[in-house]
Amino acid sequence: MVVEHDEEIIRAADYIIDIGPKAGRLGGELMYQGNVSELKKNSSSYTVKYLTGEEQIEVPQSRRKWNNFIGVKGARQNNLKNIDVKFPLHVMTVVTGVSGSGKSSLVNDVFFNALQHHYKGNALERAEFNSITGDIKLMKGVEYVDQNPIGRSSRSNPVTYLKAFDEIRKLFAAQPLAKQMDFTPAYFSFNVEGGRCEECKGEGTITVEMQFMADIQLECESCHGKRFSPEVLEIEYRGLTIYDILEMTVDQAIEFFSSLKGATEKKIVKRIQPLQDVGLGYIKLGQASSTLSGGENQRVKLAYYLGEEKTQPTIFIFDEPTTGLHFHDIKTLLKAFDALIERGHTVIIIEHNMEVIKCADHIIDMGPEGGKAGGYVVCEGTPEQVAQCEKSHTGRFLKEKLR
Ligand SMILES: Nc1ncnc2c1ncn2[C@@H]1O[C@H](COP(=O)(O)OP(=O)(O)OP(=O)(O)O)[C@@H](O)[C@H]1O
Ligand SMILES: [Mg+2]
Ligand SMILES: [Zn+2]
Repeated sequence: MVVEHDEEIIRAADYIIDIGPKAGRLGGELMYQGNVSELKKNSSSYTVKYLTGEEQIEVPQSRRKWNNFIGVKGARQNNLKNIDVKFPLHVMTVVTGVSGSGKSSLVNDVFFNALQHHYKGNALERAEFNSITGDIKLMKGVEYVDQNPIGRSSRSNPVTYLKAFDEIRKLFAAQPLAKQMDFTPAYFSFNVEGGRCEECKGEGTITVEMQFMADIQLECESCHGKRFSPEVLEIEYRGLTIYDILEMTVDQAIEFFSSLKGATEKKIVKRIQPLQDVGLGYIKLGQASSTLSGGENQRVKLAYYLGEEKTQPTIFIFDEPTTGLHFHDIKTLLKAFDALIERGHTVIIIEHNMEVIKCADHIIDMGPEGGKAGGYVVCEGTPEQVAQCEKSHTGRFLKEKLR
């Protein structure tokens, strides 16, 4: 039994069970159960729609052209064979190649470290290369968007990360009863003492350490998981407590706050809108980041950058962002990448997923094999150019995809 998003694996299955139709609150139903060979059109399952070709990720009509680039000379990290590589700016570059071919060595160990050194003055750790060349001045920074949990605290969640919670707290502090009680916005925070439940320190759960087993999480008996003190939960905004707001999904909250007038309400919608744009409309505003999947955490970070008002041109690096994503989510993710590029940023992705590779403006294909037999650039160029490259494994698969 395999839990999988990958098209090739799904097609190779004898039997599939599809759950959906959407995510979170809008999922949980059995959408299809049966043989892969018997799939029919007009299914309400996204998986079936993609497998029958009814829905698909389109190959872009044209590839973005580029002139500017940042080059790396003499990269020798791990298995890299003293290679010179150009990373184009203001486009979407995908670095491909079999496992162990040297993608992470090139992009993370060399390129990212070199850029961190240049933009932030970080130590060059142990990056092995000669020099960095090209239009490095056209970009102002680099961000590595990984799948680690957002925020360091177990109390961090999507709205705190996107700074929308500050506005929500202001809204509550402005209610007549809150003013009467002298409750400041800080009183509605679960990070500091005041309005939070002190029994669980605003977490809603108590961690019980078990000597020989994994720790267990129990609901806090004092606040019953609501995270705030009873006095704070008496303050209502349009009939809702701060707990009720945190229990809303992003979609629900956008609907709720959009229907209201007021500058703070508008700000809240603006801050959380990017979450919907990256396909996270189904997550709860207050869902602890530790319970988000790797892909979800990564998209919350992406949403943060999409929502930033004044941004300097930045190089965004993603290592396998489609891990754990369905075809349907990949489509949304690609739109978010386009939005970053439209804002003047540069996107560099390490990826095995053919749907993403076929949508690249530029491909850097590493290999030809893994380990010692890898570490070379096998070919580079547009997907159409790489598809013509006989030596490239990626090229062969691309040829199929681009037909
Ligand atoms: N710290 C290290 N020390 C020694 N060898 C390493 C180190 N990190 C990676 N390698 C080796 O260098 C080669 C390239 O590894 P790299 O992680 O760059 O591959 P990759 O293309 O990113 O693969 P994957 O798709 O599996 O992530 C591999 O043979 C790997 O075993
Ligand atoms: Mg890697
Ligand atoms: Zn509590």
